[in-house]
Amino acid sequence: MISYPDYLQLLPKTELHCHFASTMSAQLFVELARKHGVTLPTEDPDVLFDFTDLRDFLVAFRYAHDVLRDPEDFERVAYEGVRSAVADGNLRYREYAVNPQYFFSRGLTYRQVIDPIVAGLRAAEADFGVGFGIVAAINRRESADSAIAMVEQVIAHAVPEVVAIGQDDLTPEDTEDPTRFAAAYELAARHGLKRTAHVAETPFATPDAVREALEVLGCERLDHGYRIVDDPAVVALARERDVVFTVTPVSTTICSRWTLDEGHRIRSMIDAGLRVAVSTDDAMFFRTDLGREYREGLAAMGVDAATAKQIALNGIDGAFCDEAQKARLRADFRAQFLALDALLA
Ligand code: ADE
Ligand code: ZN
Repeated sequence: MISYPDYLQLLPKTELHCHFASTMSAQLFVELARKHGVTLPTEDPDVLFDFTDLRDFLVAFRYAHDVLRDPEDFERVAYEGVRSAVADGNLRYREYAVNPQYFFSRGLTYRQVIDPIVAGLRAAEADFGVGFGIVAAINRRESADSAIAMVEQVIAHAVPEVVAIGQDDLTPEDTEDPTRFAAAYELAARHGLKRTAHVAETPFATPDAVREALEVLGCERLDHGYRIVDDPAVVALARERDVVFTVTPVSTTICSRWTLDEGHRIRSMIDAGLRVAVSTDDAMFFRTDLGREYREGLAAMGVDAATAKQIALNGIDGAFCDEAQKARLRADFRAQFLALDALLA
């Protein structure tokens, strides 16, 4: 017999929303910083990863990219990140937001970033059976023209595993303003790339950002989206389009200060009939992992076993992989659900 928290931890999972740099372990981060002579304010994770809000976190997130320089750094982060997530949360498939513009400003090219990540993830797929996709994320701190140039790179150097574009960070005004990048999204769509975006993430964002991401940018999936519950018309729109929201309970609690309990916005999204899939977002920075997001995050919001299984399946439906891969994942998940249900006390 197993307890409910163990059941949640053992459920098979996909992860559709994690930032590549955030899949590093704190130990590897410190090791790579030493290797490249990057001075960290401290090596104590309790201080290094202590944030007051999203803006505060993003400062650390940006500089963390500086420790990723050589191909073997990227490959190691990719490979070890999969190995840990399999152990910590029964990961079966993952999509990574990679923000190439953070690396352009450090002198790396698109292929110098993407190729070693793909090599590391392919090696991990061979060893652990975890498939993957990459979302090339627009850096909202940069201009709309720079976003177009980044998408042009994605198109010019087509890599089959780079399946979508997204947008993250905040604008220089600390806003989301998703439509600022509408031309880049249009270009991506014309070349068959899928679309997602970080929107309506914190108390400073607006529910309208969800509408804009759906209606103007044409996003098939959205990251966060929590402010949606403040506008029933946008809830209706997202339900009509059957949008999957990639939500991140533990990390969002730190960035937003919303309490993780039965009144949390993610629970309200579920109760409103919206489809959510659970992810870590920034595991190293928020000292979380995929198992913890289910075990603590879902349990704190009072999510029952049937809903938790549906959330795991939403993570397949919302994935940007092909139908054959989704069918294999669903069969695998259903078999594991049967075994776990039989063990649940
Ligand atoms: N980059 C990494 N994590 C992010 C988040 N939660 N919001 C916006 N940009 C991010
Ligand atoms: Zn994110």
